Amino acid sequence: MLVRIALVLAAIAVSGAHSLDSSTHVIKEAFAAPLGWRIDSLPDPDHVLDLRVGLRQSNWPELERQLSETSDPDHPRYGQHLSKEAIEDLISPTADSLEAVLDWLKDYGVMGDSLSFSPARDWVRVKLPLHVVEEMLGTTYHVWRHDEGRYAIRTTEYSLPKDLHAHVDLVQPTTHFGGISALKSSLFREFTPLEGGAKAEVDSIAADEIDASCNETITVDCLAQLYNFADYTPSFPNNSVAVTGYLEEFPNATDLQIFYADQVPKAAGSSFTFVDIPGNNQTSGEDDQHGVEANLDVQFAFGISYPINASFLYTHGRPPAQLPDGEENFNEPYADFLDYILAQDTIPWVISTSYAEGEQSVPFSYAERVCRGFAQLGARGVTVLFSSGDGGVGGPSEGCTRFRPLFPPSCPYVTAVGGTVNIPEVAVDFSGGGFSDYFARPSWQDDVVPAYIEKVSETYDSYFNKSGRGIPDISAQADNYRVFYQGKAGHVGGTSASAPAVGGILALVNDVRLAKGLPTLGFLNPLLYKQNVGSLFNDITEGNNPACGTDGFNATEGWDPVTGFGTPNFALLRELN
Ligand SMILES: *[C@@H]1O[C@H](CO)[C@@H](O)[C@H](O)[C@H]1NC(C)=O
Ligand SMILES: *[C@@H]1O[C@H](CO)[C@@H](O)[C@H](O)[C@H]1NC(C)=O
Ligand SMILES: *[C@@H]1O[C@H](CO)[C@@H](O)[C@H](O)[C@H]1NC(C)=O
Ligand SMILES: *[C@@H]1O[C@H](CO)[C@@H](O)[C@H](O)[C@H]1NC(C)=O
Ligand SMILES: *[C@@H]1O[C@H](CO)[C@@H](O)[C@H](O)[C@H]1NC(C)=O
Ligand SMILES: *[C@@H]1O[C@H](CO)[C@@H](O)[C@H](O)[C@H]1NC(C)=O
Ligand SMILES: *[C@@H]1O[C@H](CO)[C@@H](O)[C@H](O)[C@H]1NC(C)=O
Repeated sequence: MLVRIALVLAAIAVSGAHSLDSSTHVIKEAFAAPLGWRIDSLPDPDHVLDLRVGLRQSNWPELERQLSETSDPDHPRYGQHLSKEAIEDLISPTADSLEAVLDWLKDYGVMGDSLSFSPARDWVRVKLPLHVVEEMLGTTYHVWRHDEGRYAIRTTEYSLPKDLHAHVDLVQPTTHFGGISALKSSLFREFTPLEGGAKAEVDSIAADEIDASCNETITVDCLAQLYNFADYTPSFPNNSVAVTGYLEEFPNATDLQIFYADQVPKAAGSSFTFVDIPGNNQTSGEDDQHGVEANLDVQFAFGISYPINASFLYTHGRPPAQLPDGEENFNEPYADFLDYILAQDTIPWVISTSYAEGEQSVPFSYAERVCRGFAQLGARGVTVLFSSGDGGVGGPSEGCTRFRPLFPPSCPYVTAVGGTVNIPEVAVDFSGGGFSDYFARPSWQDDVVPAYIEKVSETYDSYFNKSGRGIPDISAQADNYRVFYQGKAGHVGGTSASAPAVGGILALVNDVRLAKGLPTLGFLNPLLYKQNVGSLFNDITEGNNPACGTDGFNATEGWDPVTGFGTPNFALLRELN
């Protein structure tokens, strides 16, 4: 964990004491402000920034190579997950890089206790007044205002001394404006309270038919029938599952109990661990909200996986807001989350996240670094799931010329979960999918993705990159979930629902595996894309995901950029060795 250390103001109040000639500064990154952001004013030069410098990870290709072995079911090393220490050894920067960065910081009077490091020393963090940062980065920050009223102190370009370029991957906050949002479909399907507290009508489970009510309302029982886990009770003691929370939204424990009484009576009285992850702004608590997103995630992930140890991993901080009157609340949520979680000795084996933002609004350097953080989790045996998005292929209906996939689902090291609806299941029309513009198609997609692309209408050629990572990997029901919020039942949808549902189911799969002495699933994608494993999912062949003034892509036989391989069949997945 990054330890926050008090500012040594005296040490940094130097000016002109540094030896570097600023004429050696060369642009490190330029990134146009994402849509909706405009310059508002000049910030207070004494405003304090919590600067993070990402040092080059010395042996990343080697970590990637090892992960490709431990995640490939046909490789002798399959499942031999790497230890925290082994990963840190591979990614820690070289002594040269460390020295170069520390020398540079020292030139501005920054040293010793004012610095904090990640365990692998691949991040260094320091709080500095804006005017010092501007000098260090040869840039000018502005207060930017988003059309929706958010503020952020950012720049669209920064420089570093030429000699430092090879040692530093990125410096933030600079060009990352940060716009993550929850993928609950309040965007699409308003939370509509039903008659409060009424019991869901669930008939006894028939082997070959699903309750008719499941076509209108999804409960834990419906998912158990659809995905074949009704007869399974987890029993392995050390198994674990988690959902993450951001943006000051917490689950309500009382609602969880009402949900359990309604849908998972055996779980009544059970709870989860609330893990408090320090973010950039440790809020006081008075603004904390109990929200639909967090309730949905917790109720379904933990309802499905009960009694597996469940955690809610909450990262503090909110999107940039409430400037210029107060302290900035800039938000680098995944970086804060990863700092914390990668420093832990034990990590939940499945982590599901229902938050994302447009790939185009994230600078590549930041996306790449965060994606590598998720790869490290995978290498340690953790399965990382993200909702694929609720906007189809992405992009506005008017004047759109390019699809807009979401990040982090576009990161190849996470498993992106799309959405379905109805019985029998078809793709839900908002299911996020398509192809990354940042991440190249990983080799494990080579057997299935190019075959799909060949059949795509040529009219889409300019809308996406045919060499990009295909999204999503799998899917699950994504609408009409019966969720409790402030004591009332309501229907909630979105791929926000499908990711935690899959998270609960994969925790059950891990349970079977751990009990058999097999390793946890870890980074799942190479396994998923093995032809025979893809067939352990219910193939979704109907529906499409329109956006950007197009009909989006078509769901088809096999993998498609709407539902991936389809929805999980636990009865088959549990047989994997
Ligand atoms: C469960 O975890 C604890 C602590 O990490 C460990 O000591 C114990 O051996 C584990 N039990 C099993 C059955 O793996
Ligand atoms: C976090 O932000 C809120 C709202 O701007 C502010 O009131 C609070 O003091 C901040 N907390 C910390 C620890 O910086
Ligand atoms: C469950 O996991 C949390 C961490 O997420 C841990 O603090 C707690 O001790 C675990 N509980 C059990 C019973 O293993
Ligand atoms: C479920 O609803 C869909 C859409 O309304 C309909 O097409 C389908 O036939 C229904 N399925 C069943 C089993 O009634
Ligand atoms: C398409 O993606 C590949 C792999 O990421 C990249 O090398 C190439 O530059 C991209 N092409 C375009 C036109 O963006
Ligand atoms: C989807 O299917 C329809 C009907 O078969 C076809 O006209 C359309 O071109 C397909 N879309 C793409 C992107 O290939
Ligand atoms: C939590 O839910 C209960 C009802 O289940 C409600 O009475 C309470 O107000 C909620 N708390 C918050 C902070 O929303």
